[in-house]
Amino acid sequence: MSAVPSTLKTNKLIDKFGRQVTYVRISVTDRCDFRCVYCMSEEMEFLPREQVLTLEEITRLSQAFVEMGVTKIRITGGEPLVRKGVVGLLENIAKLDGLEELVITTNGSQLVKLAEPLKKAGVKRINISLDSLDTDKFKKVTRVGDLDVVLQGIQAAKKAGFEKIKLNAVILKNRNHDEVKDLVEYAMNEGLDISFIEEMPLGVIDSHSREEAYYSSDEIKQDIETQFELLPSTKNTGGPARYYNVNGYDNLVGFISPHSHNFCDTCNRVRVTASGLLLLCLGQEHSMDLMRVLRANPTDLDKVKQALIESMDIKPKGHDFDITEQPVIFRHMSVTGG
Ligand code: GTP
Ligand code: 5AD
Ligand code: SF4
Repeated sequence: MSAVPSTLKTNKLIDKFGRQVTYVRISVTDRCDFRCVYCMSEEMEFLPREQVLTLEEITRLSQAFVEMGVTKIRITGGEPLVRKGVVGLLENIAKLDGLEELVITTNGSQLVKLAEPLKKAGVKRINISLDSLDTDKFKKVTRVGDLDVVLQGIQAAKKAGFEKIKLNAVILKNRNHDEVKDLVEYAMNEGLDISFIEEMPLGVIDSHSREEAYYSSDEIKQDIETQFELLPSTKNTGGPARYYNVNGYDNLVGFISPHSHNFCDTCNRVRVTASGLLLLCLGQEHSMDLMRVLRANPTDLDKVKQALIESMDIKPKGHDFDITEQPVIFRHMSVTGG
């Protein structure tokens, strides 16, 4: 809490459309040890250090959000676990009074070493990207990733005892669309949830045409249904996924379909990039420079909260992704953190 009495008119973040922001995704680095074809170009330029929020700034910002009613924080990247000091940061965020859920999205490459420390730090749930179970295809999609290391990381996460582990698979036609059923089978046998994601046109990539690689959630669902029975589930994380129970198993299959099923009406989230830019929508450029606000007010958290309140006026109604056009969003997912 700030030492001086607060002059803020509200302690909630509510936008012009009446949607309350209770979930923040914070990218702690734009760097990554993978180069997934849908996310990055082969050659990428990363931010210089001084243009990245410090761990202290991220903690203060998290505090401001939580004091404004945010109950869930997801730490993302790039690959969040390549940021030095990330475990200590998570420990500090986990202690914030009012935060109900601290979660993380990772590519799994560091989990053999970090799964246990993350659990100890207070991370409740973890999402791990896994696009293929075939060593060669995995290498092709991630360009540099090693499937075995990630599979061992998944085992380490299971052993560490997180409340939930969810796999994320981005499906691209002619790269991994033939693996959908194998991925579901793997997830069910390992006791994990899995979400299938339609590729989003974020940033310029050099490996394929997004239009040609489009493989819809409906096609994915049909493929799965040749082997498994899917029963609609009422589960809603407030997130973009539509979930199904798999008959005979305890875990869920989710579909994230920004193209075929828009979910902006109930959007409850904002995201912060590694350089402290608050993005009000994943698919639009509306933003506010929080690094500037944090650095100009190192001891006054109310100023930061005031900026958050003001940002609500520019949260757009929704995205208008179009894979048939050149990207209108030039940020890569690694900058935004998904
Ligand atoms: P939970 O619901 O907490 O399990 O997480 P999540 O599915 O929101 O998070 P995760 O980091 O696993 O993201 C999965 C995919 O959903 C990523 O590709 C995200 O970019 C995508 N996603 C998350 N939020 C949004 C959103 O607001 N809009 C769109 N279009 N995609 C989103
Ligand atoms: N479209 C859809 N999903 C993407 N991801 C990264 N880039 C894209 C994209 N262009 C996914 C990652 C990870 C999640 C955070 O976002 O695979 O699972
Ligand atoms: Fe790294 Fe994730 Fe982007 Fe792949 S999708 S390059 S793992 S940030």
